[in-house]
Amino acid sequence: MRKKIVAGNWKMNLEYSEGISLFSEIVNMVKDEKKGDQLAIICAPYIHLHSLAKLGGNAISIGAQNCHQKESGAYTGEISAKMIKSVGCEYVIIGHSERRQYFAESDELLAEKTVIALANGLTPLFCIGETLDERNNGSYFDVLKSQLVNGVFGLSNADFSKVVIAYEPVWAIGTGLTASSAQAQEVHAFIRKEIAAKYDTAIAEETSILYGGSCNPKNAAELFAQEDIDGGLIGGASLKSRDFLDIIKAFNS
Ligand code: PGA
Repeated sequence: MRKKIVAGNWKMNLEYSEGISLFSEIVNMVKDEKKGDQLAIICAPYIHLHSLAKLGGNAISIGAQNCHQKESGAYTGEISAKMIKSVGCEYVIIGHSERRQYFAESDELLAEKTVIALANGLTPLFCIGETLDERNNGSYFDVLKSQLVNGVFGLSNADFSKVVIAYEPVWAIGTGLTASSAQAQEVHAFIRKEIAAKYDTAIAEETSILYGGSCNPKNAAELFAQEDIDGGLIGGASLKSRDFLDIIKAFNS
């Protein structure tokens, strides 16, 4: 069954003690709000993950924001999918536009990361999104399709069925500019159609597709009410417990 997901992406914010206290607040608030098939996830910096996984219990699942593409070895400073899994994480963000932009991560590299994440039992939250230029010049469907084809459409049916897709228009991330619910729904429907064409309708219907980019307590309910929007990947608003909770509650409004 398609899951409703609200995933927070803390990015490179919060030192250790701040992360623990924000997370503890979120756990206490979320416990009573989450319903049935709804999932809450926090994707935190690596150094927080072990502690958060212990504190999260059944209320909140934990994800990393990146992983290395190799199993292990001489890659000084890197963290493997196996290590992430070993501290109790279930998810990993792959292909966030900040990684594509600032760390030159290509679709091919991201495809490798997706494979290694799945092989180690992590669920990839695979991000795609167009820039403002690509939106304005009308090439965004081509851009999004090529990110899907080169990033995740090499996976088998069984593996693809485990992936969550996040549509994050680059022009909406951290800018306060949200895609309108109609713009987001148009793209989500397109993504689902492409999944159905590559795999099949059943897999497309089961895939959770999240929206990300300046999602906040004010716009979440309208976005989440769209037929093909199954939740959100939340940056700035996930750093405030009340906002994150209100976004989770947007599913029930
Ligand atoms: P934002 O970030 O909610 O702060 O726009 C979203 C994201 O980058 O995942």
